[in-house]
Amino acid sequence: MARKKITVVGAGNVGATTAQRLAEKEIGDVVLVDIVQDMPQGKALDLLESGPVYGYDTRITGANGYEETRDSDIVVVTSGVARKPGMSRDDLLKINAGIVKGVVENVVKTSPNSILIIVSNPLDAMTYIAHKVSRFPKHRVIGMAGVLDAARFSAFIAMELNVSVENIHAFVLGGHGDTMVPSTRYTTVAGVSVEELIPKGRLDAIVKRTRDGGAEIVNLLKTGSAFYAPSAAVVDMVEAIVKDKKKILPCAALCEGEYGINGLFVGVPVKLGTKGIEQIFEIKLNAEESAALKRSADAVKALCEQVDKLL
Ligand code: NAI
Ligand code: 2OP
Repeated sequence: MARKKITVVGAGNVGATTAQRLAEKEIGDVVLVDIVQDMPQGKALDLLESGPVYGYDTRITGANGYEETRDSDIVVVTSGVARKPGMSRDDLLKINAGIVKGVVENVVKTSPNSILIIVSNPLDAMTYIAHKVSRFPKHRVIGMAGVLDAARFSAFIAMELNVSVENIHAFVLGGHGDTMVPSTRYTTVAGVSVEELIPKGRLDAIVKRTRDGGAEIVNLLKTGSAFYAPSAAVVDMVEAIVKDKKKILPCAALCEGEYGINGLFVGVPVKLGTKGIEQIFEIKLNAEESAALKRSADAVKALCEQVDKLL
């Protein structure tokens, strides 16, 4: 099987760690792109030189332009500014909108058949921009957030119950922001609803910690935001696509009527395979969950309206 070509734009914390994880798992050859002169080349070479020790044959190259990325199968966009303490993801909107637009314009020229995985924040609005600018079919534009948010939710539940993280199937819907909707009803531990295992008060606190999960790390790091769990989440998505796993993961997908949402990228359960998003699953929500998802979609809509004025 021919190796897949995966471009990672932005060689900062998330981008470089994504490249490292992709290389170590030999998911495909990696091109790491950044505007900072020589930096992506340096990180790529350093990663390449780790191959003999770690035992991988992944080819990793660094670049400051897009020629080297030509005909990529998947392009992960992490370029942009990350949050500092006190900043919300939405504060990043204006700066990152311009960056993501420019990056996607280049990707369209060089890798017109690629699948885009957007990471830059505010995630749902940046994914909307990527779709608008690329005009790629909706199954080839995907936002990463739900896998990260679900991972945080799972980690906190596993800690609470002192069980393996592998036993937890966490379910998160909605935008990647303060209105995200971690669902306790659909989250299970070895097949049992978490609502039966953790008292409501504790569970509410875990849901809150999940919603605030990004800020918790920002406040600890002080100079940037999370990147280990985010890069792990990206790689889970890339792997599902490259290996055509048909894996169901929460991702930001263009909803066109699903869950009553129209024309917005919002986190919903999707099937990821070789074509990208192969299906959106519409599961039954109760009144409370529907209202929470609507609130979240409304918050995403407000950002997209700002984007429409900016672009
Ligand atoms: P970082 O600051 O470490 O790296 C960003 C990199 O992008 C820098 O190296 C910068 O030089 C580069 N860059 C800026 N403009 C560029 C351009 N036009 N072309 C190519 N590269 C460019 O930031 P970090 O921590 O890697 O985060 C990146 C983005 O991902 C941020 O917007 C952050 O908020 C977001 N993020 C999103 C998550 C999610 O769940 N969706 C999780 C974690 C981070
Ligand atoms: C996070 O959730 C900053 O969105 C990023 O960690």
